[in-house]
Amino acid sequence: MSETKAKPVILTGAKPSGELTLGNYLGAIRNWATMMDDFECFFPIVDLHAITVPYKPADLRQRTYQCLAQYLACGLDPARSHIFLQSQITGHTELNWLLACLTPVGDLHRMTQFKEKSAKPGASVNSGLLFYPVLMAADILLYNADRVPVGEDQKQHLEMARNLAQRFNHTYSDTFKVPEPFIPKAGARVMSLQNPTRKMSKSDDNENDYLLLLDPPNRLRKKIMSAVTDSGSEVRADPEKPGITNLLNIFSAVSDRSIADLEKEFGSQGYGTFKKAVAEAVVARLEPIQEKYHELISNKDYLHQVLREGGEVAQKRAYRMLSKVYRKAGFVART
Ligand code: TYM
Repeated sequence: MSETKAKPVILTGAKPSGELTLGNYLGAIRNWATMMDDFECFFPIVDLHAITVPYKPADLRQRTYQCLAQYLACGLDPARSHIFLQSQITGHTELNWLLACLTPVGDLHRMTQFKEKSAKPGASVNSGLLFYPVLMAADILLYNADRVPVGEDQKQHLEMARNLAQRFNHTYSDTFKVPEPFIPKAGARVMSLQNPTRKMSKSDDNENDYLLLLDPPNRLRKKIMSAVTDSGSEVRADPEKPGITNLLNIFSAVSDRSIADLEKEFGSQGYGTFKKAVAEAVVARLEPIQEKYHELISNKDYLHQVLREGGEVAQKRAYRMLSKVYRKAGFVART
């Protein structure tokens, strides 16, 4: 008799701490949408991570719905994946505690994102910000994920999740798989439009730094036309030309054309013509997503249904893993 083999597990998510950017889409969400047939996919919205920086409760709620509607508009399919809220599943914060007790504080202080965020002038450095990567490891290990598709900026956090899986296995006994990062070839690091040596981020103060998935077409065009370019006039990917290189990467990722092909077409056409073409390619890619988003965001009943169904599967899986983890760590089983 042939046995159906369980599909490998993917877990990944985005935090609703602002609106989603083109970086979130190209580095992450559009790739997740291609994995649903080959993997069992868990796609939480990691809302607990969003409160590591100051926020307003009403904004968090609104952004969480928006994030969910954008997940769906970008092609995540609730019939082929489990979409849920991290805060609604018992287990993430409990596993966070068990893993925190295996994490040297020095390791957390050395994390690049913690150092960058806490060094910002006027930053409120709470312990949640420090423990951010431990909670992220808990998200991943709670579902015993095989792979974690993320943008390049999450590499170091992934390394910590891998270390914690190994440390737990070594301290107690074999429990967790050691998850593999899955970083796309194109779009893994979309850079800021105004400062192309830094990654595009929704937490930047200047809104011309980033393109939002929900920016209306004319705002997208305006931001791209005002992106910083480099000296010279040749359109070519080159470390000396970070502005043009970033626009070429964006153009290539949204149009599925190779950089070489774009260089050939636009190499000598001048920056103005090139930027117009980038803008039109971005608009063409985002317009259908925006249309779908606007249909979905007003349908709260449907959004709740997606979360309920995804949450049910996630909770069952999380309880199973959590019981195992407690048992391995020496806690008395509930009877
Ligand atoms: P977040 O919300 O910052 O980003 C979500 C995803 O978008 C990717 N990304 C980018 N990719 C390319 N270029 C950019 N400029 C860019 N900006 C963001 C991120 O790499 C990420 O894949 N810590 C995570 C959230 C998280 C998580 C997890 C992820 C919490 N628990 C468990 C995976 C597994 C984060 O900050 O995502």
